[in-house]
Amino acid sequence: MKRHLDTRLVHGPADGHSEPSGAVVGPVHLSSSWRMGSDPDRPLRYQRLGNAPDQLDLEARIADLCGGERALLFASGMAAISSTLLAILQAGDALLVSRTLYGGTQALLDRDLARFGVRHQAVDATRPEQWAAALTPNCRVFYVEALSNPLLEVPELEAVVAFCRAHGLRSVIDATFATPLGLRPLDLGFDVELHSATKAMAGHSDLIAGVAIGQDEVLAPISSERDRLGGHLDPLSAFLLGRGLKTLSLRFGRQSANALALARALEGHPALVEVCHPGLPRHPSHLRAQRLIPQSGGMLALRCHSGAQAEAALAALRIALSAPSLGGVETLVSRPVATSHAGLDEAAQRALGLDPGLLRVSCGIEDADDLIADFRQALDAASALDGLHA
Ligand SMILES: Cc1ncc(COP(=O)(O)O)c(C=O)c1O
Repeated sequence: MKRHLDTRLVHGPADGHSEPSGAVVGPVHLSSSWRMGSDPDRPLRYQRLGNAPDQLDLEARIADLCGGERALLFASGMAAISSTLLAILQAGDALLVSRTLYGGTQALLDRDLARFGVRHQAVDATRPEQWAAALTPNCRVFYVEALSNPLLEVPELEAVVAFCRAHGLRSVIDATFATPLGLRPLDLGFDVELHSATKAMAGHSDLIAGVAIGQDEVLAPISSERDRLGGHLDPLSAFLLGRGLKTLSLRFGRQSANALALARALEGHPALVEVCHPGLPRHPSHLRAQRLIPQSGGMLALRCHSGAQAEAALAALRIALSAPSLGGVETLVSRPVATSHAGLDEAAQRALGLDPGLLRVSCGIEDADDLIADFRQALDAASALDGLHA
């Protein structure tokens, strides 16, 4: 009988314990190369070629976790994204993308892929009726994110897969915000599932990593692209990622519960115009999220009346830290117009629903009541500021 996910997260997919020394926790191999023929079962050779034992074992665990034939580890989420797109696309190709992408991905499209003659067309991934008009004969890929940053919009994911199948496109999804526990993109039919493993998969804000998961045939060219570009994950980060994964289920459950509790507790606070969480019935993607990502992880967004109030609230927080990134055990808060979306001009920010008063929150695993109290006192302090409420 196949074991439950929580057991596989701790012990991996295989029966028994494979570490020959008997150590409960396996060693970290810092060797850059291996003696030829040292393992009769697999051709271990050289770290950059992705065939070191620690990484291969971790890739097998992640493939099992996500229901793919194969997983590939990368030195960062961006290394996973860039290697995937460079492996699939040729000069002269085009891709459809969701209009709300992570800034680094947007920069890759605007600055690098465009330079090599690859054009992209942004669409509203929640409106399938608009996609056909954006399609060109040279289109090869539809690229979306599972939950948009920071407003947590959920695309019409089944429709993305159906559209790709109908038009011969590869479907690629960055599921970082949802984590492999919140969403099963490969079960929905996506060709490639990507994660910044820096975030919830590793979970402790202490490493940078990425992963791509899919079927062998789809991942083979991405694997050789990784070998050439050199974006493989180093052994120490692989060790930490493997350790973090063991507790993903516990962390994800707590973070999801904390985010929903915080969202519910802060709705109606006078310092806020809006609380944005897909678990709240008024969220535009609520019904789709209930169907596709019922546990949506630790993210939420809070819209204050002004940038000054948002800054004042940030400064008054005592438990949550003002810092970029997400998915760690500690609650982190950032102002997207000054961090993740600082590269966009004001008109582009507004078109995406971002304004200076918006705060993005990544809930950690702290006690929910303590978090609620911390945010309440910070928002109270912000709304008490003279003249800032207008
Ligand atoms: C949704 C998403 N995808 C990809 C990335 C890039 O990941 P990394 O920083 O590990 O390269 C990030 C980073 O914040 C992200 O939020």
